[in-house]
Parts: sequence; C-alpha cells; structure tokens
Amino acid sequence: MLSVKKITLDYELSLSGVDNFPVVGWEIESHQKNVKQVSYQLQVSIDKYFDATLFDSGVISSDTSANVNVSDVLLRPSTRYFVRVKINDNHGEESPWSAVAEFITGMMENPWGGDFISAETSADKDNSKVTLVRKSFSLTKGSAVASAYLHVSALGLYQFYLNGHKVGNDVLTPGWTSYPNHLLYQTYDLSEQLQCDDNVIGAELGAGWFKGDMGFTRDRNYYGQQTALICQLVIHYQDGTQQIIVTDDSWRAEDSPILFSEIYDGEICDASLEHEGWNNTGFDGTHWRPVSLISFDKKVLTAQGVCKVKKIAALEPASIIITPQGDTVIDFGQNLSGWVEFKVNGKLGDKVILCHFETLDAQGNVYLDNLRSAKQRVEYILKGGAAEVYHPQFTYQGFRYVKVESYPGKIVPENFKALVLHSDMAPTGHFNCSNEDLNQLHRNILWGLKGNFVDVPTDCPQRDERLGWTGDAQIFCRTASYLMHTRNFFAKWLRDLKHDQTPEGGVPHVVPDILTGHCANDINLAEGGTHSAAAWADAAVINPWTMYLMYGDTRILEQQYESMKAWIEFMVVHSENHIWRYKLQFGDWVALDAKEGSYFGATPVDLVSTAYFAHSTRLFSLAAKALGRTEDYLKYHALQQQIVQHFQDEFFTPSGRLAARTQTAHILALYFNLVPEPFRERTVNTLVELLHEHDGHLVTGFVGTPYFCHALSQNGREKEAWALLLKDDFPSWLYQVKAGATTIWEHWDGIKPDGSMWSADMNSFNHYAYGAVGEWLYRSVAGIEADENAPGFKHVIISPVIGGDLSWVEAAYQSGYGEIGVTWKVRDSEMGKIVTLNIRVPHNTQATVNLSAVREVIEAQDMEMVQQGDNWTAQVGSGEYQLEYLCV
Ligand code: BGC
Repeated sequence: MLSVKKITLDYELSLSGVDNFPVVGWEIESHQKNVKQVSYQLQVSIDKYFDATLFDSGVISSDTSANVNVSDVLLRPSTRYFVRVKINDNHGEESPWSAVAEFITGMMENPWGGDFISAETSADKDNSKVTLVRKSFSLTKGSAVASAYLHVSALGLYQFYLNGHKVGNDVLTPGWTSYPNHLLYQTYDLSEQLQCDDNVIGAELGAGWFKGDMGFTRDRNYYGQQTALICQLVIHYQDGTQQIIVTDDSWRAEDSPILFSEIYDGEICDASLEHEGWNNTGFDGTHWRPVSLISFDKKVLTAQGVCKVKKIAALEPASIIITPQGDTVIDFGQNLSGWVEFKVNGKLGDKVILCHFETLDAQGNVYLDNLRSAKQRVEYILKGGAAEVYHPQFTYQGFRYVKVESYPGKIVPENFKALVLHSDMAPTGHFNCSNEDLNQLHRNILWGLKGNFVDVPTDCPQRDERLGWTGDAQIFCRTASYLMHTRNFFAKWLRDLKHDQTPEGGVPHVVPDILTGHCANDINLAEGGTHSAAAWADAAVINPWTMYLMYGDTRILEQQYESMKAWIEFMVVHSENHIWRYKLQFGDWVALDAKEGSYFGATPVDLVSTAYFAHSTRLFSLAAKALGRTEDYLKYHALQQQIVQHFQDEFFTPSGRLAARTQTAHILALYFNLVPEPFRERTVNTLVELLHEHDGHLVTGFVGTPYFCHALSQNGREKEAWALLLKDDFPSWLYQVKAGATTIWEHWDGIKPDGSMWSADMNSFNHYAYGAVGEWLYRSVAGIEADENAPGFKHVIISPVIGGDLSWVEAAYQSGYGEIGVTWKVRDSEMGKIVTLNIRVPHNTQATVNLSAVREVIEAQDMEMVQQGDNWTAQVGSGEYQLEYLCV
C-alpha cells in the first residue's frame, strides 16, 4: 500500500502565521522497495473537507516531494488553509489523499490598524518593571463567530491573555531580532475562546532584549526606552461581517506585581501587589492609567509561524544537598536553560529566593563567579493563604543547581521543577552505541543545543553574555542540524545577520548586533574591530549553505544571496594578494596552544582567515550554481582557485611543509582542500605527528576542533580519528564526560585535573562550540552523509567509519523524506572481525553505500556490490538492507 505518511508546511506539521505560501513536503510510506514518486497532485482548500477547493495542481509528473512551491494561490490575510496531496509511484500504485495539513495566514499586506501602546513613559527607560495593558470589548451582536485570529507583537517581551487565560503556549515572545529591521509577530487562533458577550484582552510587558540590560558592558535601551504592545484581533462572523480590535488609546495600563525582570539578573515578584482578575471580565479597570502611543515602524513586522520558544520539558530535582558551607542546593542533574517553577505555602510577606548556577566548586560549594555580573536570581514575595505556584516569565536562567536562599517551610523535591525552555524544533537525530561515555557526550552535545537555541543561537546561557556569536553558530550549525530540524531557526537568525551587516558587507561578531557602536571592551575599542572576524563572519555563507545541504532548501540561498555575496566581496576588498586580514581576529579561539593566559591560539591569524576565505568562496560559488546564477558561479569559482593558489604559495614551502606547525593549520588545510595534492600525505603525517607530540591529545580551539576527526578520517587515518575521539584524559571530549559534565564546556580546562578552574572571567559550562564533533558521529561513525549534488538527502551517502572498539552503533537521522537509519555491529570470528550493517533508505531517495577496509562481503541482500580493492560500493533505492562483511 502506498500512502503519504506525513505532510509538512515549511517543514512543520502546522503553521500559525505566515506571509507567503509555505513550501510543502511529504514522506512516503510503502511496503515495497525502490519506491520512487512519479507524480503528485496537490490541493488547497479553505475547508478541511475540501468541498471548496481553491487550488488543484492536477497530476504533475515529478519526483519532487520536498520543498514544493505553490505559487498560484492568492492568499488572504487572517485565514486558515488546508493542504493535501496524493501520489503515484514507479510500481504503478496510487496513494489515497494524505491527511490534511493546515496553516493560518498572518497580516500579510493588511495594514496594522492600531499603534504600539505602552504603559511606560520615557522616564521609565532604566526601569525593569513589568507592566500591564488591558481592554474589554463586546462582540458585535447578531451573528456567530466564524473565526478569530490574533496577531500580536511587542517592543520588549509580552504574554497575552484572553478572559483570564494565557493565549498560546509560547514564551519570551516576540523573541530577539534586529528589531528596527525585523520584528516578529505571532498569530493565534481564538475562534473557540471568545465569549459571546463581553471579553477582556490584556498583556504583560517586560523589558527583555529590547530595552533591558544586555551585553558584557551592561548597557541598556539598545532598541528603545519603553516597552509596548501591538495587536490586531480579526473576528470574522458567519454573516460575512468582521470586527477588528486593535491596540489604541482606549486601552488602560497599570504596573504588574513583577517589580523587576531582566534577561541576566532574573525576576522579583511581589504577589501581594497582584491585581486579581485583571485580565478577565468582571474586573474594573476604568481607574487604570491611559496608555501612551509609541512610534515604531510597523512595516518591519513579519509573521512568525514556527520555531517559537516553548516550555519543552520539566525536570524533577535529582537531589537536594547541603553544601559544606551550609547552603541548601537543589541539583536538577542537568545543565539547562529555563526556569524553576515552585510551589509554596506561607504567609503574606514570606519570601522565596533562588539563585541559579552551573557548577559546584572543588569543595562542593556554590560557585557563582563564572556568571560574572549576571545575577540569575528570582525573588518571590508571597501574598499568603492558599498554595502559590510561580515561575519567572521575562527572563531565563542557565543552570543545573539552584541555591535556595529563602523558602518558608521544608524544602522538598515535589515543590520544585526545572522547566526547560528552547526554540521549538523537531528532534531529528538519534545516536546510541556500545560506549556509554560516547553516548553521554552525544547527550551533552544535544543539551548544549537545547540550552543555547533560545530564540537566537547563543554562545552560553548563564553569564552576562548570551549573545548570538556568529562563530559559535557557524561551527555548530551542521551538528545542530543533525540533532534537530534547525531550518526555520537559522532562517530567522540569518535574516538578522543580513540586516545587521555593515553597508560594506562586514558581518558583526554577534547577531542581533548589540556590540557595534556599544562595545566598551578594550580589545574591540583599541582595534576598532567590532565586526568581520574570520570563521565568525563566515556564518554568513556557511549557515545558509548548510541549510541547503541538509534541507535542499533554495529559498534560504535566495534570501541570503546578497548577504553571502557581500561578505565575500568584503573579504576581497580587505585582502592583499588574496591573503585576507582585517583588524581584530579571534583566530583559533581558546586553543590550548595559546600563550599562557591568552585566548588566542598559536595558528597564525592570516592562515585561518585565508583558509576561511577560500572555503566560504567555494560554498558561495556552489550556492550561485544551485540557484542557476552561472555568471557568479564561474566568477567565484575562479576566485576560489586563486585564493587556494595564494594560500599554497604563502603557507606551504616548496617542499611541502606547512609553515605553521600547529594542529589547526593542518586541519584547516586538509579539510578545506587547500593542500597541493603532492603534499597531502606529508600534511596528514605531520598532523598525526602533532597529535603524537601531545600524546594523542588535541590542543585545538574553536577553529580546528570541529574538523579534527574529519581531517584524519577523510585521509585514511580513521584509527587516529577514533583514538582522538575516545581519549578520556585531559584535554579531550571524554575528559569532560568523565568529570561529570552534562553539557559541553567552553574551555578544555574549564575544570582542570586538579579541580581548579579556568579564570572565572570566561568559563562557561554550557558552550556548544566543541560539541561540533557531533557531526563526526553522524557523518562518519554512522556514516550518514549529505550529497551536495542532491541536497536534503534526496541522495544519501552511507559510509560508516567502523572502529573505536565499539561493538555496535545505532543511529538515525530524520530527513525530509523519512528516516535514514544505520546500525552496525562488530563481532570477532576466527577469520577476523565481521561487521553486520543494517541500512534504512527513505522512499523517493537513493543511497550510495561506500564501505572501506572490506576483505570479503559475506552477505548483501538485494544489493549489488562493486569492488575496488578494499573498497566496496553499492547503489540502492529505498528500503531496508542488511549486509555482512569481513574486515581487512
Ligand atoms: C564568547 C565566545 C565567542 C568569543 C569570541 C566569547 O565571549 O563566549 O563563544 O565566540 O567571545 O571572541
């Protein structure tokens, strides 16, 4: 039986608020092998039974089942649409209609009728209090409500309420973007929630990233001085009439009991000041103060249909401990980003005070120093009476531990929960193997993602930073995209990267950019270099390219094309003889071969920069090719060749010695294909030598680490790659695991073998950059590799690197076409090691299976293996396969 298993819109099962018709994709289910779609038919309707079909594509001969563009439907704003699909395959089967996917349009071109309204005045600019705005209204009499959609956004953070209930389950909305250019609004369906007569809508507004205190310089008001709300509630009645409620001067305002809320410092709430029932009918708000209207460009409001921050999970305390210094500490057993929700009984004026932190010190005491100036403190003053339940709302904390400074009554685990917050993305990666430390590493990498994908990709979630550092996001992008569906997350962020680029194409160090023009940090001021560092700024090219590679999405290349090109041109302008240098560079950041006390690794900055110049230019030329922009493709392809040539002239001696004798220099040269072919072997040998000089340990920083294992395994040094991955003494990935890490550390020596710590100035225990080794687990250990000629895993290359004395690996990646699965088992036999490999290839895709170090193929069901020395290859269509072979 052929069927369409899952239909997605912009890669999601449903969308609430879009400005354009989403791309459609579907997964195919069949009991057959080698299934290929030969045609599809797609319908769009405004009723879910498709009685009133708006669009019917007719039968289209095509094998495309991902990123399908629907261009012929004229969408109306604030309307729900339904989409379904049926297909035919190469076995002559026809599927029934798929289940129905649905989406709601946003405001589209519709003008916003209201204004931004604020409960604050400019005198509140340094104020971090939360305010309330409310309005009551009645429905037009005479007809029943057919639909009601709310479009809402804020300057600052908002929580919206209708008749006493929070609208939607998103938090920290509208998120953080380059606000003057790109402010997201959310859309919610209130059709079922409106009351037939009186209704009340209202919102709480917090400072958030908009006007709050942000950045290590602790400046504030980056985007404005007053929080404000904008909304448009569009009610369609069954008789065809409509009613629109907007934010205007008829709203009323008041201060909330939340006296203080800031991203870094936490929240203070005095529940005794609560205005009970303020967001519901039956409350008299006439005495509240008037709102003021704020002018802000409404043209920058953009619909956000997906990928909002949500409460994703709740963790119970793992234990409650009393430290040697006598503090009561709740250990949640996992470093995470989010809130602590607590339940408390007490009397008016009693207090709960919680201090969130990441790690205990060597003596087992509370360690707050690495938070720098971030307080991460939540204070709640009880109103008294019945049990009270609270969690903060306009802040978030990065923590594993919570010090309970005050709490009336006994501290019992049942009264505390850690609510895990992150951007809502579908998990796509699965990795499990016979080595428990490696499994823990994988979990740590995943938690690094969760903790730092809180609306923007942050460097860390705990200290006074939490910024969208471009380098970190670039380094981790591919790993993240195996673990979770990151397309919509990065598409949002990349839009801001583009907006925040300098007119010349320079890329800020952090996106959204709050450093340029604000940075009082010594190094930045002295060098005047608050943007455009190699490997950091290259996020402009590498991240969109990675989205294309993983999801086959050309829209993101279109969206970012000019930004990508501007970045390449920036490097062209600032390079001399194709060797690129520019002001402040981070080089191989926090590498262990740095001079004592320095953050800058030993690999020369111009080598790192030029290597990235070549790499990004190559990717950009391929992006141009993918979009059919042949002229650009040829131009930038030629440029890339020249850069490589100059790189070789500058950094290789005539006899093939790479001038910089560092691990990172060799890794970059190999992984970015910058080594003259005759010198490849020598370069690989030197890299292995450099590894041995450190007893098999890495000394690499942000730039070299992600590609270390690849540089080895792609050059016949699989054994060394495995040995490097599995090292478990200092410095190594598993050293952290053995030290009890539950996320990835910023520094290899975050906690040193003697228990002392790296300087508290910069020592995060939840920094995903070194987690970039995750891509080696998926691309090499599991061997699930994308093909840049058939992106989005339309064609997958399966070539597992068996090794590390593992007896089994079980991995899967949920591609747009369905799950790609690879399982391998190794057993000893008299003849040597025997590998059993199980593969799952989704329908409508193909796979090339590449095996190396094969002595003899014992069994290969339904696969035609072709031998070339020790390497065996097979081309297969969809289905499940098993093969067994004897290793060399
Ligand atoms: C951040 C890093 C970032 C670096 C660049 C640090 O403060 O935490 O992750 O990439 O600065 O210099």
